[in-house]
This record gives sequence, structure tokens and C-alpha cells, in this order.
Amino acid sequence: MQVDLRESWWIRDVEIPSRLVLAPMAGVSVQAFRRQGRRYGAGLVCSEMVSCAGLEHRNERTLGYLRVARDEHPLAIQIFGSEPAVMAEAARMVVAAGADIVDINFGCPVRKVTKTGAGATLLEDPERACAIVDAVATAACVPVSVKMRRGLENGSRVCLEIGPRLVDAGAATLTLHPRSARQMYTGEADHSLTAELVQLVDVPVIASGDVTSRARAQSVLATTGAAAVMVGRAAQGNPWALSEIVDGDAGEPSRDDVAAELIVFVRETVRELGEHRASGFLKKFYGWYLGRGRFPRPFKQELVQLESTEEVVTRLLAASPGAAELVERLEAELPDPADEILLDSMPISIYGGG
Ligand SMILES: Cc1cc2nc3c(=O)[nH]c(=O)nc-3n(C[C@H](O)[C@H](O)[C@H](O)COP(=O)(O)O)c2cc1C
Repeated sequence: MQVDLRESWWIRDVEIPSRLVLAPMAGVSVQAFRRQGRRYGAGLVCSEMVSCAGLEHRNERTLGYLRVARDEHPLAIQIFGSEPAVMAEAARMVVAAGADIVDINFGCPVRKVTKTGAGATLLEDPERACAIVDAVATAACVPVSVKMRRGLENGSRVCLEIGPRLVDAGAATLTLHPRSARQMYTGEADHSLTAELVQLVDVPVIASGDVTSRARAQSVLATTGAAAVMVGRAAQGNPWALSEIVDGDAGEPSRDDVAAELIVFVRETVRELGEHRASGFLKKFYGWYLGRGRFPRPFKQELVQLESTEEVVTRLLAASPGAAELVERLEAELPDPADEILLDSMPISIYGGG
């Protein structure tokens, strides 16, 4: 059965214009990543996980995660924490910042998060998990989604027990990454569990894990009955994977295309994070963009060693002169920063953070 990935679907009253969702990824899902994802066919994009404790304490860096640009919608902002009341307050802030959906993280396997009782640990504490969903759904005037793993331990099927309860508590959609927390990212995502979950709940389910091609997306959608697939690692430095999945566009991008997308990504990230944070943050992206045989390996090493992002852009333009015109075209299509809802005016001014 061929599934049309360009078909829109709904999370309550929020229309999602394609059946591809860009995954939340800590240290990756900055605004530039999300906007690029929308341009390349993702119907829904998601922020990285945002600490509800950080929001509660008006931590300046945490508040920075709530910056939303006009061309990101529909956008989910993901929060994590273990206290229902604090999560509810975080949800209100996230909605005020412009999120169309509040996503709750019940999947993070990282010890720093699980030892606080948040993330994947909540899969083993269904009472608390349901209390969190209930509190967030009551506080938020937008749909609430939950992203979870299969369970903590290998072979766990706990997601099938807790999933329907989370829906009863108010979740309007569930995303399942069917690996255990213990597995981290090893082994394979077992989408037979996704198919079972789809049978158990009457809300749309999003399938996350190991979707890297159009063929895989089609097969996961057809065999699970999920409403959409979520794509994470395959999109790192590779937005072309998204258009291949959604539209079947074949072919590798040209060097000029790659250099142009990377230059726009660098500039937008500097605008969002500032030069100091962005220059460290961006280094991993150089490998992601320039790898896959697109540029010689020493070129990537050279970029990583440059001091400023300005020098990186100059070097990319020297190596790929045809990128200049593409950058101009791409930047002309982006909304004028002065025209965006916030960037500078929200949410720090609202919440007095920092
Ligand atoms: C670097 C990285 C960071 C991630 N951060 C988050 C996160 O903040 N919240 C979340 O729910 N999942 C997070 N994930 C999990 C992804 O959203 C996704 O479920 C997982 O990578 C499987 O999908 P993939 O095979 O398409 O990458 C992260 C994954 C990676 C690789």
C-alpha cells in the first residue's frame, strides 16, 4: 500500500500538512534546524527538550529555547520534568511563547534527566506520568502530545500499558520510539510495537526510529497504521533526506546547494545563540553537512579549526563560489527578522528571565 506523505492530518484542531515530523534533538533542534525542516517538507517540527525547572527559575538559557519564528508553525515545544504543577506552569509559558502543541518527554534515557524522576523513568511510574499529562492538558489551551520509549528495560512492553492511560489523561497524540531506555540508540527500533499501540488508542500515533528513506517511511506507515513518521538523525546536516522522504526527490545536492544551506544555517544560528555559543555548537554540523563524500575530509577539518563563523562562511564561499547566489535567494525567502513575532521581544521580556 502506497501512503501519500504529502497528505495532511490533524492533532485535534492543528493541521499538520505532511506525514513527516522532524524529531526533537537536544543540541541539534535549534530554530535554524526547525525552519529548514519545514522548508524541506516536515509537517511538524519540535524544539529540543526544555527543562520545566529551568523555566520555573527563569533561567536565561532555558528561556532562549522558547524563541519561536513565524515560519516554524506548526511547532511543538517539548518539556521535561517530574512535578505536575511545575510542568503545568511550564506548559503555560510554552503556549504563551507560541507553541501549537506542548510535547511531554517520557523518553529521555540520559542519567542526568532520569535521576531527577523525569524522562523515560516516568514510564515506570504511570500514576505520576498520568498526573503530569492531566496537569499539562488542563493548563494548556493547545493539544498535548507525549513522546515515549518502549520502556526502561530491553524487551519492555510498558508503552502499551501506559499509552492508553496517557490518552485518557489528555494526550492528543503519542509518539513512540520503540527502543528501551537501556538501549539508548543501539539495536533497532521495533515498530511492531508501534503497530500494537496504534490498535490500542484512538489518537494519532507518530512512529519514531530508524526512518532514513522514503521506502522505510512508506513501509513503517503501511505496516503500523501510524499517522506520521518522525525523522531525527537522518536529517542532521541533511535536509535533502526530508524532501526525498516526502516527495521522492532523488539525487544528491550539488556542492553549491550544500554550502548555501550550511551558510544560511550558520548565520541563523549565530543570530539565535550569539557568536560565542554558536561557534562551538556548529562544529558538529560541519561534519554532518560536508561528509557523505560531498567535500574532501581535510576541508571539514579546516572549518572546525577556524576561529570565527565569519571565516567559515568566507571559506565555504571560496570553495563553492556558486553558493553566493543561492544564499541570496534563500535569505530573500526567509521572513525579515524584524517581522518575526519575537526573537528579541519574547519571551525574556515577558518572563523577566536573566
Ligand atoms: C542527539 C540526539 C538528541 C535527542 N534529543 C531528544 C530530545 O530532546 N527529546 C526527545 O524526545 N528525543 C530526543 N532524541 C530522540 C529522537 O527524537 C528520536 O526519537 C531518535 O533519535 C530515533 O529517531 P531516528 O532514528 O530518526 O534518529 C534525541 C536523539 C538524538 C540522536
